[in-house]
Amino acid sequence: MTKLGVNIDHIATIRQARGAVEPDPVAAAVLAELAGADGITVHLRSDRRHIQDRDVRILRETVTTRLNIEMAVTNEMIGLALKFKPDTVTLVPERPEEITTEGGLDVASSVEEIRAAVEKLSEAGIEVSLFIDPEETQLVSAFETGAPLIELNTAAYSEAVPKGLKDHDALFLSELEKITSSTRLGEQEGLRVLAGHGLTYRNVFPISAIQQVEELNIGHNIVARAALVGMKRAVIEMLAAMNPVAQA
Ligand code: PXP
Repeated sequence: MTKLGVNIDHIATIRQARGAVEPDPVAAAVLAELAGADGITVHLRSDRRHIQDRDVRILRETVTTRLNIEMAVTNEMIGLALKFKPDTVTLVPERPEEITTEGGLDVASSVEEIRAAVEKLSEAGIEVSLFIDPEETQLVSAFETGAPLIELNTAAYSEAVPKGLKDHDALFLSELEKITSSTRLGEQEGLRVLAGHGLTYRNVFPISAIQQVEELNIGHNIVARAALVGMKRAVIEMLAAMNPVAQA
């Protein structure tokens, strides 16, 4: 069975939009775990636009499955990983102006730098995963860094089926094939293979059906659905809070 890592960044995005205390990503993590999530993922960005250091500190204490922190390969972030000691660190590229992670890590052009980061984190008992595009050069370089895990970037696949599988065409099939063949190659290289980015309720199945893909990391679409499936109940509860006498 494919495992699910739930990315709760966008719970924090809603909180930060108001500088409020709610919704707390820590509460979202507890609920995700109660629902069966296999792990909790957060991206601690250099600009702290959503997840804050305080969130990571408390999540480290409260997550009972596995805590995965996505982060850029910088001295600041590696230092924080060594301090917080998550179960896994996923190294990702980061550009300050980007809306979300754009593309995978260019491991091929910075093998030494990434190998040094992998070594430091591994010595501290943290598993390292590299978020890479499904390309042979990146896979081969990922293997050279000594990281045990890779996460294949499914953004191009997801963008090929913006409205779901009904639209699927040659582009969808070629992007799916890139994920499938990269998974096979990763496995041959002895890497454990995860995948994620842009996955939705409509496009997830062809990816989860790839047997060797161990886990998917999914965030935005789960939080988007949570906001909608929770809307009716939230309004009912607000009416009850406004009119407690009518409820009695
Ligand atoms: N994997 C990685 C490495 C990511 O950076 C992200 C986005 O933070 C995800 C998975 C989840 O992507 P999405 O929010 O589109 O599901």
